[in-house]
Amino acid sequence: MRASATTEAPAATEADTIAVGVFADEGIPHDLEGSPLTALLDAGEARTSFKHLALHHADGRRWLIVGLGSRDAFDPERARVAAATVHGRARELGTRVLTWELPHHVPDEVAAALVEGTILAAYRFDRYRARPEDEPRDVDAIVVSSHHDVADAVRRGAIGANAQNFARELQDMPANDLTPTALAERARRIEGIEVEVHGRAWMAEQGMGALLAVAQGSDHEPAVIVARYDGGGEGPLLGLVGKAVTHDTGGLSIKPAAGMHEMKYDMSGGAAVLGALQAIAALELPVRVLAVIGATENTINGSAMKPGDIVRAMTGTTIEVNNTDAEGRLVLCDCLAYAVAEGAERVVDVATLTGGIVTALGTTYAGLFATDEDLAAAVTAAGAAAGELVWRMPLHAEYDEQIKGRFADIVNSESRKAHPIQGASFLKRFVGDVPWAHLDIAGTGHDNGRAYTAKGGAGWGVRLLLELARKPRE
Ligand code: BES
Ligand code: MN
Ligand code: ZN
Repeated sequence: MRASATTEAPAATEADTIAVGVFADEGIPHDLEGSPLTALLDAGEARTSFKHLALHHADGRRWLIVGLGSRDAFDPERARVAAATVHGRARELGTRVLTWELPHHVPDEVAAALVEGTILAAYRFDRYRARPEDEPRDVDAIVVSSHHDVADAVRRGAIGANAQNFARELQDMPANDLTPTALAERARRIEGIEVEVHGRAWMAEQGMGALLAVAQGSDHEPAVIVARYDGGGEGPLLGLVGKAVTHDTGGLSIKPAAGMHEMKYDMSGGAAVLGALQAIAALELPVRVLAVIGATENTINGSAMKPGDIVRAMTGTTIEVNNTDAEGRLVLCDCLAYAVAEGAERVVDVATLTGGIVTALGTTYAGLFATDEDLAAAVTAAGAAAGELVWRMPLHAEYDEQIKGRFADIVNSESRKAHPIQGASFLKRFVGDVPWAHLDIAGTGHDNGRAYTAKGGAGWGVRLLLELARKPRE
């Protein structure tokens, strides 16, 4: 979908559908001659309650009046939701070009959010399906009409949302087609970054015994995808680390059959990192980023790791694998250590790490764990600005005690007691003194129920990481 901004009036654009938002206790901003939109509002057919839609035909085009609720409660997140609602109807109506009239007196972030909500709502994953003949074609273009120039915000919104849709497509791809090698191929095709892909032999040279232990149960070659972006700038080298388990059967500590198909989404952290990189590079942000993505399947062949195995991570730390289903931390610990060894000065990892975070926070917040107050504040602010919320969870020396090993330095899983925090405690050991934040996105990463990413891969994290790269210190 094309996206553009204009300072022309909506009716002067090529739109066949024009969306006009109305706030509670306010009128139609620019009505047509004879005030037909105001008449609809007076008659109660159009309403100001949030997301209410009414349709009017005039001058050979459609006008969609959408309730925006109270101005005080309105923010970019509500703009995304309103845009998704409008897109749904506009698509049904066969819209080709949709022009949104930007509400008066809102920040430019709302213009970006309207574009994001529209492009995200337009995402479809239907490449494996025969297309039903009567299915409406999607909207070709979104235009934001405003009294002042919002072209920058529109461009940023479009680049971010398209990158998020790229991440969603990776997520929705089934594990038989999105193998670690296939994921690495997609990474190579991102413009504006340098990508290296490393296999088992390299991992062995690096001493990545934890990641290799997970990968040894799969006949597919694993991949450590290392991507670098250099936009210059004064700031510290930002390390982004992603868990990309392309399928998690649980290994010999096997998962129940009922939900196992959803474990194709266990690469969502890696997808979010790749999406963010795509957007950061397209926007040519003045930052330096080092991304390290650990891609492997967690499955069972004759040489799969077994509960009780002891493995040695890249840092030399030995790990008792008490539960082969706590594989995410085994993948990440070597990727984190590698990012630090390569000079990352702040590290954020993104991972579908634990079911416990879903129990605790549902799909509303991702869990945030951090060793550094400034980084925690920056990640929280970026999430709030991007509409991807995080909730800070604790770290404590008692949890570090909990994962001490009996036969090795540490165990990868001790009990279900506070297991999201156990996971974070485990990862913390591998970053040394480098400021570090961990995002557990097991709940928010897919099927998160947001109006614009309700089902399937949500691309959660792309907008947060992009915002973090734009405003590293807020
Ligand atoms: N990939 C899962 C976590 C997960 C659960 C992601 C639900 C998305 C939805 C992870 O590898 C896992 O299996 N975690 C275990 C950890 C346990 C063995 C300590 C879990 O959550 O049960
Ligand atoms: Mn697992
Ligand atoms: Zn997993």
